[in-house]
Amino acid sequence: MKTKNILISFSILLFFFSACYYDKEDQLYPSSGICDTTTPVTYTASVVPLLQQYCYSCHGGTATSGGGIVMGTYATDKAMALNGSLYGSISHAAAYSPMPKGQNKMTDCQISKVKKWIDAGSLNN
Ligand code: HEC
Repeated sequence: MKTKNILISFSILLFFFSACYYDKEDQLYPSSGICDTTTPVTYTASVVPLLQQYCYSCHGGTATSGGGIVMGTYATDKAMALNGSLYGSISHAAAYSPMPKGQNKMTDCQISKVKKWIDAGSLNN
């Protein structure tokens, strides 16, 4: 009888631990996942830091691991915004290679910032 109780307690514990294991950070700590939608999005302050973090290591200027696709200046980044490959690749659209390659998809908040910049005309601001 005792063994059975231990087994039941263990199962209950396991249930709670496994429940925690699958929780998402942004659901557990919603305040850390807030997306700032009020600060205006600009190329210099919003887009470049994201591309620096996720893309330029392979595609920036002298990097050689970007399959020949060069980013890192306003001209190159704007061209990719205009031909659709910037948003297509980071949003994992079917027609594009998903980027950043071999890494997690950027967060919805980060992707929405890049999209805002593109939709506003990919200005050099
Ligand atoms: C680890 C290196 C690496 C990183 C980081 C990376 N890329 Fe790439 N990217 C590549 C390689 C290699 C290719 C060429 C092969 C391919 O298309 O998968 C490529 C191709 C592309 C293409 C052409 C895809 C197509 O379907 O036409 C675009 C656009 C692109 N990358 C954008 C980005 C953007 C934007 C980021 C940052 C969010 C990024 N890449 C991050 C390595 C990388």
